[in-house]
Amino acid sequence: MNPENIIRPMTEADLEQVLVIEHLCHRTPWSEAMFLNELANPLSRVDLLWRGNDLAGFLCAWRVCEELSILNVATAPNMRRSGVAHALLEQALYRNQQTGLECALLEVRLSNLAAIALYRSFGFCEVGRRQRYYSDGEDALVMQLVLTGHRF
Ligand SMILES: CC(C)(COP(=O)(O)OP(=O)(O)OC[C@H]1O[C@@H](n2cnc3c(N)ncnc32)[C@H](O)[C@@H]1OP(=O)(O)O)[C@@H](O)C(=O)NCCC(=O)NCCS
Repeated sequence: MNPENIIRPMTEADLEQVLVIEHLCHRTPWSEAMFLNELANPLSRVDLLWRGNDLAGFLCAWRVCEELSILNVATAPNMRRSGVAHALLEQALYRNQQTGLECALLEVRLSNLAAIALYRSFGFCEVGRRQRYYSDGEDALVMQLVLTGHRF
């Protein structure tokens, strides 16, 4: 049985472990400096999900005006399909809904079927497409979830 999920904000002491997951999960991973910028940015929050002593995943989102912008979500490959990203996203969406945010927005690669399925499972809908958004020329889907009145 999995140990309980513990979700808490990232600190500088977590950087090394976060970078390991980041490099395992993304084609163009964020650097150490980029995570340090997130930690210094009052609009940003990086949540970590721990199972026992193991970092299972993280989520980075910015709160801008009435909107939550989801910038980065990643689950350690050996922990996938066990509800890590779901738990992180649910907590972030619910917390921000409770404090008055109206919607959540994100960009996702057109080919990232796992992430698109994750977002759709929360009710995110496609609201646009950004041509050649990524450095390798792939398009991004823009997805939105209206938080006002949404039931989790
Ligand atoms: C996308 C990602 C974050 C999903 O993380 P995860 O912890 O494995 O996801 P969860 O276990 O919480 O899945 C929740 C739901 O999302 C959907 N889902 C997740 N992975 C899926 C996959 N590979 N195929 C289809 N649906 C998937 C399912 O609906 C799933 O519910 P279910 O398991 O009950 O069917 C993970 O695959 C990852 O880290 N990918 C690399 C980084 C990335 O692409 N991040 C997103 C950038 S926008």
